[in-house]
Amino acid sequence: MKLNRRHFLVLSATGTGGALLAHWAIGRKPSLSSATIPPPIYTSSNGLLELNLTASHTTVRVGDRSAHLLSYNGQIPAPRLEAKPGDTVRIHFTNQLPHPTNLHYHGLHVSPTGNADNPFISVASNEQLTYEFTIPDSHPAGTFWYHPHHHGHVAEQIFGGLAGLFIVRGALDEIPEVKAAQEQFLVLQDFDLDANGQINPPHPMALMMGREGSLITVNGQVNPTFSIAAGGLLRLRLLNASAARFYRLALDNHPFYLIATDGGAIGTPIESTELLLAPGERAEVLIKGDRPPKPYRLLNLPYNRGGMMGGMMGGMMGQRGSRMGDRMGGRMHPHQNFQAPAPSSQPLATLIYQGSIPTLPLPEKLIEVESLPAPDRTRQIELSMTMGTGMGMSMGNGMAFLFNGKPFDLQRVDASVKLGTTEEWELVNLDPDRMDHPFHLHVNSFQVISRNGQPESDRAWKDTVLVKGGETVRIRVPFRDFIGKTVYHCHILDHEDLGMMGIVEVQA
Ligand code: C2O
Ligand code: CU
Ligand code: CU
Repeated sequence: MKLNRRHFLVLSATGTGGALLAHWAIGRKPSLSSATIPPPIYTSSNGLLELNLTASHTTVRVGDRSAHLLSYNGQIPAPRLEAKPGDTVRIHFTNQLPHPTNLHYHGLHVSPTGNADNPFISVASNEQLTYEFTIPDSHPAGTFWYHPHHHGHVAEQIFGGLAGLFIVRGALDEIPEVKAAQEQFLVLQDFDLDANGQINPPHPMALMMGREGSLITVNGQVNPTFSIAAGGLLRLRLLNASAARFYRLALDNHPFYLIATDGGAIGTPIESTELLLAPGERAEVLIKGDRPPKPYRLLNLPYNRGGMMGGMMGGMMGQRGSRMGDRMGGRMHPHQNFQAPAPSSQPLATLIYQGSIPTLPLPEKLIEVESLPAPDRTRQIELSMTMGTGMGMSMGNGMAFLFNGKPFDLQRVDASVKLGTTEEWELVNLDPDRMDHPFHLHVNSFQVISRNGQPESDRAWKDTVLVKGGETVRIRVPFRDFIGKTVYHCHILDHEDLGMMGIVEVQA
């Protein structure tokens, strides 16, 4: 197992470095972990990233309370892993959960077969498995992540806290202006805890929109503070690791510059004031320390993602309002235990100014995003859901989320693709409740070509794309380097568990 030097020093400075090291090395469940000690990071050296990783029940401090969550190596979020193109990754994984699980490396362009990024692996309770794969030399630098992917348990396990960053360092990190920036990672997770700090079982109605919790955390903390030097640059690397919650982010009166999306760098920085991150999505932004040196709140603005509850909230917020009337006048009743999303902005973190340095410039150019060849073939994938019989408010059983009218079937290949070809997939959201669905494809990143027939102006690599209620989104995917079966699915993970997943097989 690897700890970088900084962590070694931090751990040693606590006076129990040796004990902690031994403790992490065997991956045992820690007692209450304190948010004030930065958690270990695992970095590759000499071409190898090797570590022990254990999924288990864990008690941690979240804000001012203790929470009984699921963790990797006792950490919420999970330890950050860092590797480089060409590295071998070897993870000795132990499942101490009561249910089967596995590991998925979201966004990595690595093999989906064997003990690599294989979503069909099942690691039973109390079993171990060593994952091993190689990151191609040509792999882009970017903000990727890892999480469980055992069909039927994905929402529950990610909502328990199982998620961590997987950083690939490369060309983007070497751009001088980017390199000069301070780096800060923000992992966004939400939890739904009862008075004893146990995770509430989801209300059946919550499954429809996907489970959300009112306790929103950034790096496992409530409203943490991060700092920027006046004149400096801060590089924020954001991950939405929530099971279903969307984040519409804004920094109070403080613009920022988008430099990377899911799959890595974009061509040039884009000035923005808002950033919408659907579950599974990542973004990197640069913040310039050029504003008055006061605190700035990182806000989560209201967002209506459609569906019955979304429609109801939308009505309150005056967005997509017509549906609210329909729903409220119809079958909708206020339901006990069900927490509707907050209709106002919530502060997630605070940016403060600290110190001052000679002004750092923004990069003018980042990394050109290649333009993809015309597609060899086109497919259409319809996104929808069905309530079965019984309607009313009794959901759960009859509810299924579908691609092309069918729920996930492990025995069926939905898309058979030839290695080395490029395909264009037309994603058509036919959800009867006009609910948003973030579409995600494993192993191969894609580019968004158009939305509702409007060409997308900026090229960017994505692996998760939001397809809003009623929208049609065209994506272009080059299937490169790897054969084998993998999956595409909705990243609202309750939808995935309830059927919104398909199998793609790439053949030589
Ligand atoms: Cu975030 Cu199938 O993955
Ligand atoms: Cu994924
Ligand atoms: Cu969905």
